[in-house]
Amino acid sequence: MPTAEPAATALFLKRWLRRPLAMGAVVPSGRLLAEAMAAATLAAMEGRPGHVVELGAGTGQVTKALLAAGIPVQRLALIERDHELAAFLRRHFSGPQIIEGDAARLPRLLAGHGIAEVAAVVSSLPLLSLPAEIVNGIVQGVFEALPGGAALVQFTYGPSPPVPRGLRESLRLEGVSGRRIWRNVPPAVVWTFRRPAAA
Ligand SMILES: C[S@@+](CC[C@H](N)C(=O)[O-])C[C@H]1O[C@@H](n2cnc3c(N)ncnc32)[C@H](O)[C@@H]1O
Repeated sequence: MPTAEPAATALFLKRWLRRPLAMGAVVPSGRLLAEAMAAATLAAMEGRPGHVVELGAGTGQVTKALLAAGIPVQRLALIERDHELAAFLRRHFSGPQIIEGDAARLPRLLAGHGIAEVAAVVSSLPLLSLPAEIVNGIVQGVFEALPGGAALVQFTYGPSPPVPRGLRESLRLEGVSGRRIWRNVPPAVVWTFRRPAAA
């Protein structure tokens, strides 16, 4: 169920009314989904140096869960394209690096902000509602930024993996899903995608 503060929920709804496809949901992720994203990210980053990069941080529901799970604040970078949401994140989170920009430009954004090494990427981007060429660009950029064997954690409301099959095949991604979280609006599944490290 949604557990965001009223101000966050109101801002989220306002931005959804303005850009429904880019927001992908009417309300922020619920606590159980955010915790599942954080647990998958913690597992994915284990033993890997560098930053955890959160794509589409919105009002920071997943961010809060990442921090509560113990991800060090100095290793967390948030990417958010919406100016009002990026400003909200700056007001509410003083520790993580907050980068206002388009996730489709991820490698350039990271380089421009001095982030050379990425341990994991966690994304709440609404991949199902974005055009295929944008999804291709975003996912390719993510795996350009990640070293071999490192993971992208992504949730979806849909029944299929959130990264389309053709893209999974061309990037040789292996995907593993968790259980559906029914107590989220809408119910969601967390997926972890990896490209095996080169032998
Ligand atoms: C479903 S909301 C998730 C927000 C928050 N992480 C949560 O789980 O409640 C998707 C977020 O992705 C952002 N977004 C959409 N397209 C983006 C892009 N190309 N680059 C960066 N952020 C983007 C939207 O502005 C929105 O904040």
